[in-house]
Amino acid sequence: PGVPPVRITLEELKKHSKPEDAWTALGGKVYNLTPYLRFHPGGVKETMRCAGKDGTHLFNITHMWVNYDRMLANCFIGYLVPPGVN
Ligand code: HEM
Repeated sequence: PGVPPVRITLEELKKHSKPEDAWTALGGKVYNLTPYLRFHPGGVKETMRCAGKDGTHLFNITHMWVNYDRMLANCFIGYLVPPGVN
């Protein structure tokens, strides 16, 4: 019962790479970064390096201690479809 989870391909993710429409994938979950941009302690430009792509690695080498899943809970969109999976 309930609504099935939204699945997002890398191809779809790529289309959302502008500040006014910025998505990223972190740990297999896709988030809309746009509402968060102005709150980021590291600035907009740094956050935008994750936009339109899987930002997991960049995020983790920058601040692995930050609990993005809690911070971006309201920005959650769906699950990233791993490459090669349809
Ligand atoms: C700081 C969240 C992406 C670079 C921070 C802090 C948070 C945060 C909570 C403060 C951490 C602390 O002081 O311990 C996020 C979230 C992101 C994101 C939710 C979602 C994508 C990025 C990216 C980069 C980045 C992609 C760089 C490529 C930085 C830097 C700081 C910082 C340089 C330090 C700022 C300072 O203390 O002056 N971020 N971040 N962040 N972030 Fe991010």
